[in-house]
This record gives sequence, structure tokens and C-alpha cells, in this order.
Amino acid sequence: MDTMRWEKDSLLLLDQTKLPQKVEYLKCKDYQTVAKAIRDLSVRGAPAIGVAAAYGLVLGLSEKQFNTSEDFIAEAKRIARELWLTRPTAVNLRWALERMLQKMNEANAASLTPAQLKNMLLQEAHAILSDDVNANKAIGNYGEKLIPDMARILTHCNAGALATAGYGTALGVIRAAKEAGKEISVFADETRPLLQGARLTAWEMVQEKIPVTLITDNMAASLMAQQMVDLVIVGADRIASNGDTANKIGTYGVALLAREHKIPFYVAAPVSTVDLKIKQGKDIPIEERNYLEVTHILGQMIAPEGVKVWNPAFDVTPNLLITAIITERGVITPPYDKNLALIMG
Ligand code: MRU
Repeated sequence: MDTMRWEKDSLLLLDQTKLPQKVEYLKCKDYQTVAKAIRDLSVRGAPAIGVAAAYGLVLGLSEKQFNTSEDFIAEAKRIARELWLTRPTAVNLRWALERMLQKMNEANAASLTPAQLKNMLLQEAHAILSDDVNANKAIGNYGEKLIPDMARILTHCNAGALATAGYGTALGVIRAAKEAGKEISVFADETRPLLQGARLTAWEMVQEKIPVTLITDNMAASLMAQQMVDLVIVGADRIASNGDTANKIGTYGVALLAREHKIPFYVAAPVSTVDLKIKQGKDIPIEERNYLEVTHILGQMIAPEGVKVWNPAFDVTPNLLITAIITERGVITPPYDKNLALIMG
């Protein structure tokens, strides 16, 4: 099942707010619908929102007629800025949009007609999508070598096919381990407040027939204490140049637990998630979301009216807690500042 696909001048997004109850595609014919889908998490996960935004830019540029390529380029920059303000933490969003704008720079855009530019950007969005799938397969290939046969793997949030253009990062490693013939099993943290683990990771694993056990977030410590977890693997939304990693809220807690129980803690992410401009985790912008996500579960109010809420969508895991970062260019171990710089060229 595709996370998204381009069909007849529209972007179809598998609406992740409806899963697992309903498999429904959201049809986006303009960039505002794509921006809303990113904000509302109909499409979510760092690489997936980057790819969706790239198509969103193409849609935005299809809405108007342009007399000159200068007008086209100015509008492309305006729409790109609007799209990358939709979610602040995952750097893949900015990365994909910059790649789209960069494509026009390289092509000497001023010499092309607006129609040629639009077609070029559509091809670039397709390339971003297929590059992401290929990167995830390469991550899977490197990562599965770290997974012992019979491993019991804990993951947090959803870093699967749904969070990417396909195959997944953390779940890609798990898929690759299965494809390599290993008998593995997965524990999925439910991932409050929005339940990406329960709704999406568990769903993907059930579809793939990979044994999966759902736990609530507060059960991980006990699970590890009972020696029921061999390793942890998660995705990432932004990796600072020193290896500090922002990922779904709760990841830091899982990393601390893994350290205490001497369990390897792996991050799987494409290099588009690495932001060398950010020196350390505390400089990564952390999105804060609507309080209703905490006071309600699936539309049902669970807290008293008027209660105060804190709802950061991500936290930062310090590099010291990360055993290795698995990328499509290889597995990076500490010291991360040196080794990330090397792998990023
Ligand atoms: O708020 P979300 O659902 O977009 O958060 C997603 C995550 O934190 C994922 O773990 C991360 O984006 C990596 S996805 C390959």
C-alpha cells in the first residue's frame, strides 16, 4: 500500500489519522490541502512530510499562470516557505523543499519557460520519492546486520513505510531482518498522545506478519527489567551534528531505560535527517501541539475542562545514549561529530 502517490495532477495521501479503522486516501489538488494534511498528521513521519511537501510545491505552482520564469521562481520560494512552516522539527521537510528550489538554480531556471520548470519540479518530486525508498532499503540492508536472530526489538512511534515514501527506516531494518530469514519479534510502544505505535506500527507489523506485541508507554521499563528486550530501534526527525537526536516524545525515556538495562539503542534515519547546521540537540526546534491531543483520546475527553497541558511532539536523545546511527551510507558509531561529518562529506 502506498503512503502517497501522484495521480492525474493530484497527490493522494493515505490518511493516517483514519488508520487502522479506515484505509482512505486524501486527494490533494492544491498546496493548501497538502499543508493542512501535514499539520493535521494525515501524512506524518519526517521523510514522508518532505516528499509530500515537494509535491505540494508542484501543486501550488500549477494553480496559477505565470508570464515569466522570474514570477514562477518567486512564487516557488513563497510557497516553499509556507510549506516548511507547517512543522518545525523534522528537517526533511526543509531539506526536500530546498532540493526542489536548488534544482531550479542548477537548471538555470531563467532560460526555461514556466511550463518546463513545472515539469522539471514534478520530475524532481518523483526523484525525491524514489530516492527515499532506495535510502530506506539501504538502511535496512546495513541495519539488519546488527539484528541477531530471534531478537526481540522495541520501537517507539512509527518509523515505518507510513512515515516515509515506503519501506521505512526503523521498521525498514526490521523488515530487512525478516527478509534475511531472521526470526524476530517486535514490541510497539503505543506512543501517546497520538498513538502512532498502536495505530500505525502495530498495523504495519500485522500486515507484514511480523510478530508484534503492543505495550503502553509506561510498560517499557518493566519489560526491559524482565529481560524481554534485546535492542531498541527508532527513527529520527532531526540529528544534530554531534549526534543528539530529536524523535517522537518519549524516545529519550526509552533511551535512558535502554542504557540502564545495557540494551543497544539504535537510530535509523536517512542522511536527509542530519542537520549539520545544528550543533547540539538543545538547538533543535521542538514543535508544541494543541492541548486537545492530550486531553482527548480519539475524540473522547479524558481530562477535566480547564486543566493545563504541556504537549511537545518530540524530545531529544543525547548522543551518549545512542549505540549507533544507521544511514543509507553506512552505520555510524561515536564519536558522532567526527563520523557524521565524514559520512555527510
Ligand atoms: O509526529 P510524527 O508522527 O510525524 O512523528 C514521527 C516520528 O517521530 C518518527 O519517529 C520520525 O519522523 C521518523 S520517521 C521515519
